[in-house]
Amino acid sequence: MPANLVVGAQWGDEGKAKVIDYLSKDTDIIVRYQGGANAGHTVVVGGKKYIFHLVPSGIIYDNTTCVIGNGVVLDPEYFLKECADLETHGFRVKDKVLISDSCHILLPYHRLIDEAREAGSSPERKIGTTKKGIGMCYADKMLRNGVRAGDLLDKENLKRKLNHILEVKNQELVKYYDLEPVNPNEMYDFLLDFADKMGKNIINTVYYLNSELEKGKRVLLEGAQGTGLDIDFGTYPYVTSSNPTTGGALAGSGVSFRYLKDVIGITKAYATRVGEGPFPSEILGEAGDVLRKLGGEYGSTTGRPRRCGWFDVQMIKHAVTVNGINSLVLTKIDVLSHYETIPVVVGYEYKGKKLDFFPSQGLEDVKPLFAEYKGWKDDISGINSFAKLPPLCQSYIKSLQELVNTKIGIVSTGPDRDHTIIMD
Ligand code: GDP
Ligand code: IMO
Ligand code: MG
Repeated sequence: MPANLVVGAQWGDEGKAKVIDYLSKDTDIIVRYQGGANAGHTVVVGGKKYIFHLVPSGIIYDNTTCVIGNGVVLDPEYFLKECADLETHGFRVKDKVLISDSCHILLPYHRLIDEAREAGSSPERKIGTTKKGIGMCYADKMLRNGVRAGDLLDKENLKRKLNHILEVKNQELVKYYDLEPVNPNEMYDFLLDFADKMGKNIINTVYYLNSELEKGKRVLLEGAQGTGLDIDFGTYPYVTSSNPTTGGALAGSGVSFRYLKDVIGITKAYATRVGEGPFPSEILGEAGDVLRKLGGEYGSTTGRPRRCGWFDVQMIKHAVTVNGINSLVLTKIDVLSHYETIPVVVGYEYKGKKLDFFPSQGLEDVKPLFAEYKGWKDDISGINSFAKLPPLCQSYIKSLQELVNTKIGIVSTGPDRDHTIIMD
């Protein structure tokens, strides 16, 4: 059976979790493959809201197994807290989550360094991270100075490894960041405590996933962040420190590319981004505040106001290309009901010349070229059939589909599971 992939086509917060929740009813295993507690994935069921950070959003269904893949950076404190919160809401979590033995453990000092770097960055270098230590943990992974979940299963080896890692790390903490050194014994106890609580869930998920796929199980790969935040294909350096895109889904889960079937790209009917970095379709000033208010655009993880802009065709085409998206989901179209006319960025101009692609450099200098669409001015919240949408809304959706030259398979008209239109 196939593995399908849900990937963000913009700068995160596209409504991925709503779609993952919708698709999870026909799925056996849901896998997070990159990122960490920087993600904030909101699912609304029967008017109740749940926000996931590390636990895959498909946990709500009783029959699903959830996997934290090898590409994730797992913060034990956040993870245990999230599990406890979900369990108080009546969800089974700990017996349904598997943790890759190769995923890296995000330690408290990663967060401290992230905070120190953001505080010390000059305004033009500040990334506006979530301060969850994500980049610092991935840096240690690449430097081959990280702790992996599998290390927690061998106590003696863990002690040796930790002493070696902290010898290097403590110099960095003290000399470069003026922070307190870490006591190896305390860190050892902290990790053993996590191993006591979750050790049984730590397995070789690469073997597990591929053999379950071979047996016919249905797998859904859950992307965090989005294409614009990809370390390679996003607006570097204003990006996260992983690959949310299709290549990252394979590398971060170990699922063989032969199993991959649909790549489902999620995009809002407009655009948002949190943190610093170029945003060609951004709406500045009061007009931006209006859209933020209409869309409730405040970060699910940090509560920060999201910057708002219009749908950007060039960006979505970039996401389609990079990810191999074969079907798009258009979310939050209900938010646009307020507008008489709806601008869409249909192209870019750079130094007086038309640019046919989303550039990897100099995005801050492109001039967006707009087209305007007539708004429908009718409340469409919760409508779940295309035929019931106002004609102008139908034609807006069809126009976007033509502009990005990719099928829009699902349209979302509200946060709840039922507020969903499946297109023919
Ligand atoms: P994710 O990180 O991509 O999963 O997205 P977030 O959860 O951070 O942000 C999306 C927000 O939009 C959440 O509050 C969702 O409940 C909400 N949402 C999702 N789809 C729709 C929709 O079609 N209409 C409206 N009004 N809200 C939606
Ligand atoms: P979901 O999965 C939106 C942004 C941060 C910052 C940049 C780097 O909910 O879509 P990091 O803490 O990752 O080092 O920050 O990435 N960012 C997100 N923006 N949604 C997210 O996740 C994000 N995760 C990180 O705001 O600009
Ligand atoms: Mg989010």
